[in-house]
Amino acid sequence: MKTGKIISTGSYYPEKILTNADLEKTVETTDEWITERTGIKERRISAETQCASDLACEAAKSALKNSGISADELDMIIVATVTGDMQLPSTACVLQDKLGASNAVAFDINAACSGFIFSLSVANSFIKAGSHKNILVVGVECLSKFTDWEDRTTCVLFGDGAGAVIIQPSDDESGILSTDIHSDGKYAELLCVPAGGSKMPPSEDTLKNRDHYIKMRGNEVFKIAVKTLENLVTDTLKKNNVDPSQLSLLIPHQANMRIIQATAARLNLPMDRVFVNIEKYGNTSAASVAIALDEAVRTGRIKRGDHVLLEAFGAGLTWASALIKW
Ligand code: UT7
Repeated sequence: MKTGKIISTGSYYPEKILTNADLEKTVETTDEWITERTGIKERRISAETQCASDLACEAAKSALKNSGISADELDMIIVATVTGDMQLPSTACVLQDKLGASNAVAFDINAACSGFIFSLSVANSFIKAGSHKNILVVGVECLSKFTDWEDRTTCVLFGDGAGAVIIQPSDDESGILSTDIHSDGKYAELLCVPAGGSKMPPSEDTLKNRDHYIKMRGNEVFKIAVKTLENLVTDTLKKNNVDPSQLSLLIPHQANMRIIQATAARLNLPMDRVFVNIEKYGNTSAASVAIALDEAVRTGRIKRGDHVLLEAFGAGLTWASALIKW
């Protein structure tokens, strides 16, 4: 049984930059508050004409280019997103067509910010089963289109972008050593988009009440995230007999700098072994870890043989980790 190996990465973020100074002009906030409480300085915003599959397509093309395989060699496409092009069909199907990946089965996974690691886990199961050999996994979000730009408690947090990886069976001891995926639906209402689904279909009232936008009880999510992620990362390393001192790089979900620091502190990991790019992109949900992974690869932060730990936490609630030997 061969485990999966990430053979290439790619990412894309829209050109438009929205800074904290820009937000100071539209809602009652300050650069100081946003920086201190979150670590975010700016975020990317997709153009009016850009949707999730457009961002995903750019990231996927870049991962394909770096892999040396062509789109028609892909046998599976998994897209992690909560801001897909349409309610149906899946964004993965739209992406399949845009890439010309006609031999791939394509489907979406909704696990919010944990979606990319959930998708890695699902992809790796297919690789281990031996049924698929060239899997594209994309994490993509157009959160700006679901953000209430009048709500200062959420609009300063989110951004748009996409990250992608190609996974193949590993021929040596490198690859995905383990994945851990978890959910707890009792906290569903802490972070959600209430309207637009079968529970609250679109109506004049839902529009008037701004129910199609992301609602978050941030402080409650924050407290659960810190505790859960601290346990998750220690458990994952213990299960794999990897001491934190052997970890070359932690690539955390980029939701809040204070959560990232707390997770690193629990592992006694100095911040130079933690990948952080939250200041540039904010929280891009399912795209966050995928973009960070691509940046870490491109900037030479990951070398062959390194132990790399990915982790994320998000709506659902969901949380997930993946330990990789590069
Ligand atoms: O990615 C998926 C999972 N999501 C997360 O992990 C996010 C988790 N939560 C967080 O990152 C943090 O809770 C936030 C950054 C969202 C908020 O930080 P906080 O330290 O938990 O602040 P808070 O919600 O307790 O609010 C503190 C104060 C409040 O004012 P009062 O009631 O103390 O007067 C807020 O109204 O800060 C106020 N506030 C703001 N002030 C200036 C909230 N948003 C803003 C803002 N600018 N943008």
